[in-house]
Amino acid sequence: MKDSKTKTVGLIGCGAIGSLIAQAIEKKIVNCDKLVLFDYQKNKAADLKASIDFPTTIVKNLEAMLHLNPSVIIEAASQKAANDYIKPITTKDIHLIIMSSGALIDMNYQSKKIHVPSGAIGGLDAISSAALTQISEVILTTKKNPKAFDMDNTQPKIIYEGNAEDAAKLYPKSMNVASTLSFIVKPTKVQVQLISDPTTNRNTHEIKIKWQFGQMLLRFSNDPHPENPRTSALAAWSAINLLNTLLEK
Ligand SMILES: NC(=O)c1ccc[n+]([C@@H]2O[C@H](COP(=O)([O-])OP(=O)(O)OC[C@H]3O[C@@H](n4cnc5c(N)ncnc54)[C@H](O)[C@@H]3O)[C@@H](O)[C@H]2O)c1
Repeated sequence: MKDSKTKTVGLIGCGAIGSLIAQAIEKKIVNCDKLVLFDYQKNKAADLKASIDFPTTIVKNLEAMLHLNPSVIIEAASQKAANDYIKPITTKDIHLIIMSSGALIDMNYQSKKIHVPSGAIGGLDAISSAALTQISEVILTTKKNPKAFDMDNTQPKIIYEGNAEDAAKLYPKSMNVASTLSFIVKPTKVQVQLISDPTTNRNTHEIKIKWQFGQMLLRFSNDPHPENPRTSALAAWSAINLLNTLLEK
C-alpha cells in the first residue's frame, strides 16, 4: 500500500554518483516526492537542479538539509564529508547511505541508520553467508585505466599491494570497494592488488574467496562514468536500489 507521507531525499554531493541518483529520481525509478541537494561547489548543485524536472531545493549546508526532514540522506561526496556528517545525520534518526565507505574504517561509531550499499561490486549476500563460518582468504584485484589515477603509464603497473584499510585510505576516490568488502569478511583481512592498466577502459574488480565449504570467484567489469573515470555507474545504481528499500520502511 502506498504511504501518504511526503518522502524527501537528501543528496550530499552532486558529482558523478549524485547526478545518476537525481536522474533516477526524476525518472520515478525512486518513489519519492522531493529532493534536497547540497554540494560545497554551489554550481554543481545548481547545474544538477537545472538539469532535472523534479521538485528540488538547494541548501547551503547540512543543517539546512536536516531542517527539511529528509527520510533518507545519501552521501556521494568524499570520505571527509562522510566523516563530518555521519553523526549529525544519524543522531537525528535519519537513514544515511554512505558511498565513501572508507570513512568508516577508523570511525569508532555505530548506528543502525548507517547503510553501506554494495557499490561497484556485488555478491555480498553470498560472501556474508560464508563469513558466518570461516573465510581463509580474500583477494581483491582492481584494474582501472591510468586516467583514474591521473597517471600515464603505457604498460600495466601494480600501484598498490597490501590490505584493504590502507588501500581505501591511500586511494580514497578509487578504493571504497576494498573497505566495503573488508567490513563483510571481518575478521579475515582482504589482500588488495591495484593495477593501473592502459589496456582496459573498464573498472574491473575481481574477488577470490576461499572459505570453509568452497571457493568463490566474482568479477565485475564496469563502464566508468564519463565525467569521473574512477567511478562506476553500478555504484550509483546500488545506492538507488538501497534508497528504494529504505523509502519503503
Ligand atoms: N562504494 C563504492 O563502491 C564507490 C564507488 C564509486 C565511488 N565511491 C565514492 O563515492 C563518492 C562520490 O563519488 P563521485 O564519483 O560521485 O565523486 P565526484 O567527485 O564526481 O562528486 C563528488 C561531489 O561531492 C562534492 N563534495 C565533496 N566533498 C564535499 C563536502 N564535504 N560537502 C559537500 N559536497 C562535497 C564535490 O564538490 C563533488 O561535486 C567518492 O568518495 C567516491 O570515492 C564509492
